[in-house]
Amino acid sequence: MVVQPMEGYDSDGMGSPSDLTKRRYLRFAEGGSGIIWFEAVSVCREGRSNPHQLWLNKNNADHFARLNDDIRKTAGRLGFDPLLIIQLTHSGRYSKPEGKAEPLAAAPNPVLDRDKPYILTDDDLKRIRDQYVVTSKLAARSGFDAIDLKACHGYLMIDLLAAKGRINSIYGGEEPEKRFRFFLGTFDRMKDEASGSVMTTRLNISDLYPGGFGVDDKGNPDFSEPVMLVDELGSRGVHLINISMGSPYYNAYVTRPFDTPLPGQPVPDEHPVAGVMNMINNTALFQKRFPDIYFTGSAWSYLRHYAPNVGAAVIKNGSAALIGFGRNSFAYPSMTADLIKTGRTDPAKVCIACSGCTRLIRNMRPGGCVIRDRSIYGAELKKLIADGK
Ligand SMILES: Cc1cc2nc3c(=O)[nH]c(=O)nc-3n(C[C@H](O)[C@H](O)[C@H](O)COP(=O)(O)O)c2cc1C
Ligand code: SF4
Repeated sequence: MVVQPMEGYDSDGMGSPSDLTKRRYLRFAEGGSGIIWFEAVSVCREGRSNPHQLWLNKNNADHFARLNDDIRKTAGRLGFDPLLIIQLTHSGRYSKPEGKAEPLAAAPNPVLDRDKPYILTDDDLKRIRDQYVVTSKLAARSGFDAIDLKACHGYLMIDLLAAKGRINSIYGGEEPEKRFRFFLGTFDRMKDEASGSVMTTRLNISDLYPGGFGVDDKGNPDFSEPVMLVDELGSRGVHLINISMGSPYYNAYVTRPFDTPLPGQPVPDEHPVAGVMNMINNTALFQKRFPDIYFTGSAWSYLRHYAPNVGAAVIKNGSAALIGFGRNSFAYPSMTADLIKTGRTDPAKVCIACSGCTRLIRNMRPGGCVIRDRSIYGAELKKLIADGK
């Protein structure tokens, strides 16, 4: 069982974990999952998705180290020993370091671009690579067991993997080898620099929009390039990959199937269970093709208290090695511990796919479960509503 990365938008202004961040991770530590996959942590100021995104840097590495110590002590007291993974990111097209959009893209994409993004030059990218490398060294020193080079949900790395329209660059164009170059080169340098750390990635196997990664010309899934990339990672000794699809900014129902959309957003044509099945079936394609790699898929929270039963079947038939929960980890962080203790989950504690947590972070408020962790996050939602949002 995995706690999936879930951004809380609650760091202090310099990217350090706050008391709320600590509370969240200690709840995960008590929850009994085998992997705590930290939320997106930026490698630089200008690549933050919001002014309160975590940002690991030389001035605050000891704060992260203390948090990891506390997590290990808390988990250890209950007999748990989770693998701690940090998700390193640059928000690229979705950067908002001061709260307003400052998009930094690999190539123009008419489907995604509202404003004209700044197109990063190869020199910019080399500087960003150095930031990833320095940050991975800090991550290893701060006690993380593993480092995820995030490549999903529309942010910089997946944008580069998809950047067929990037011209006059060694990091883009029609050939997949050129588009893979920045990701794999960064991955290799991080692995050298943070030697001893397990290396992994959260990878979109299909963006499901035109001009994305893992799609044909119409934006339908085409896994040929994602398979090539996973093959490359396998040859580099990667044994763990976290699969996702879609973009929270374009087709959020793919990434996190829900019952209630964000205010003002349409209800998608696709039934949420169809979305869950797509994630399960497409993760299975990769798990079966690469049996030496442990894969976890996503979108499990929609299945509520039935998710562990479905997850057990998925593991039994070899369709995934791990089952990861995003929203449900906000709602019911102790679900795994309950399963271990009683073999049951409590239907009164599960996530109900209401999009409340997304609504909070979209409005740059601290993110958590407005339903099951009401005293803090229900109160945040009330303030938001009072502000007319
Ligand atoms: C509030 C919120 C924050 C999220 N933050 C991250 C993140 O930091 N990194 C990431 O890879 N995915 C992030 N996700 C996506 C989740 O990890 C997960 O893939 C998604 O919620 C679907 O899984 P679920 O059905 O178990 O919630 C976030 C989702 C939500 C709703
Ligand atoms: S606010 Fe709570 S119940 Fe609603 S989607 Fe988020 S985690 Fe689930």
